[in-house]
Amino acid sequence: MAQIVILAAGKGTRMKSKLPKVIHKICNKPMIEYIIEEALKVTENIDVVLYHEFDKIKELIKKYPVKIHKQNHKEFPGTGGALKEVPLRSEKVLVLNGDMPLISANEIKKFFDIDADIVMSVMKLKNPQGYGRVVIENGNVKKIVEEKDAKKEELKIPYVNAGVYLFKKEVLQKYLPLLSNNNAQKEYYLTDIIEMAVKDNLKIKALEVDEENFKGVNSKKDLAKAEEIMCRRIKEFWLKEGVIMHLPDTIYIDAYTKFEGECEVWSGSVILKSVIIESEIKPNSVIEEAIIKKSSIGPMARIRPKSEIYKSKIGNFVEIKASKLQGVKAGHLSYLGDSEIDEGTNIGAGTITCNYDGKNKYKTKIGKNVFIGSDTKLIAPITIEEDVIIAAGSVVNKDIKKGSLAISRPPLKIVKDFYYKFFGRKS
Ligand code: UD1
Ligand code: MG
Repeated sequence: MAQIVILAAGKGTRMKSKLPKVIHKICNKPMIEYIIEEALKVTENIDVVLYHEFDKIKELIKKYPVKIHKQNHKEFPGTGGALKEVPLRSEKVLVLNGDMPLISANEIKKFFDIDADIVMSVMKLKNPQGYGRVVIENGNVKKIVEEKDAKKEELKIPYVNAGVYLFKKEVLQKYLPLLSNNNAQKEYYLTDIIEMAVKDNLKIKALEVDEENFKGVNSKKDLAKAEEIMCRRIKEFWLKEGVIMHLPDTIYIDAYTKFEGECEVWSGSVILKSVIIESEIKPNSVIEEAIIKKSSIGPMARIRPKSEIYKSKIGNFVEIKASKLQGVKAGHLSYLGDSEIDEGTNIGAGTITCNYDGKNKYKTKIGKNVFIGSDTKLIAPITIEEDVIIAAGSVVNKDIKKGSLAISRPPLKIVKDFYYKFFGRKS
């Protein structure tokens, strides 16, 4: 069985972040999870090498059936050093850099179809900056030169090492112990194996690959570019599944969101970790960790985590958090938090569930066919039973029984001709 080793022990200095590089997110999902999931489609025989933030990353990936190793980074830093800890169990060992979130199982499989002592991945780029350059003479690979070690002339080479290699086990067994750290970064480069193998006349084949699938993420700029590609893939998948998208380039859909039935998403919307079923998401709405079914949301609505919205119409500037709505209309400017609202209920503009007293959060329950007038404040915890009318502008701080009217109005005082006394007559 094939063995795949994923290198993820590096710090990711160029990311300029406290977060280790491989757990930076692309479309809301940590980079390393994409690569592990794709590798698992090829084999169950997977090793992941960690070092920086070992415990944090280990915790994150413990859900996957992979073997985790700790690099002896102090003594053997670098991609070659990372491999020293890994027991070689198969005749062929595929090594993947952990910072390549765009690679797919199909691309990985191509390496196993080629017979050679080493199969390496090469990209021809207009802008090779950031990658190791592949020195090719008379059509044959000679060596890989890391950017920091490259001479001026070598930096102009458009061929770069994409960071995936398939080695015969004996090749790694022979050359890993021979690597040295005599280079600009004082690291044990895996890439130095190529030059040694060339000198020993080993059979090396280069597989030409593209950046759409093999992009390495070293900086925040790379992260943004990789996310653009991944987000486009996600949207293309859902477009094929029948989701209508208006100006898809402006829509952000994360890796966890699912659509069912006919759905329509308008420009500027952001949808994270949600399930959208037979619904319309109007422009510039933000939906996070919610279930939306047979509903219309927005424009400019914000649906926050733990919300479930069924057969409802949610309009502009309505924020909903941890609430369950069934057959509800909330058309304008409201905050509904920690609430349960039943069928046929109308929430007037400006309604606020006052769910927080500065210490704790409290629940609001509203029954069927309730009419809540505009600018109502519901002081939670509170239960409004069915068939209730709340008059506009009310502050409701008691439970209201079925069939009642609740009205709280400060008395209205009218002072005749006050305007003229205050401002004088203008005409
Ligand atoms: C590496 C290659 C470079 C190639 C590029 C492709 C080397 C020496 N260079 O450069 O030729 O063009 O990938 O994207 O291999 N890692 C460890 N332990 C370490 C150092 C790194 O596990 O001590 C891991 C990192 O977490 C990362 C991967 O190896 O996932 C690659 O390391 P990175 O520092 O990104 O190497 P590049 O400079 O991109
Ligand atoms: Mg890299």
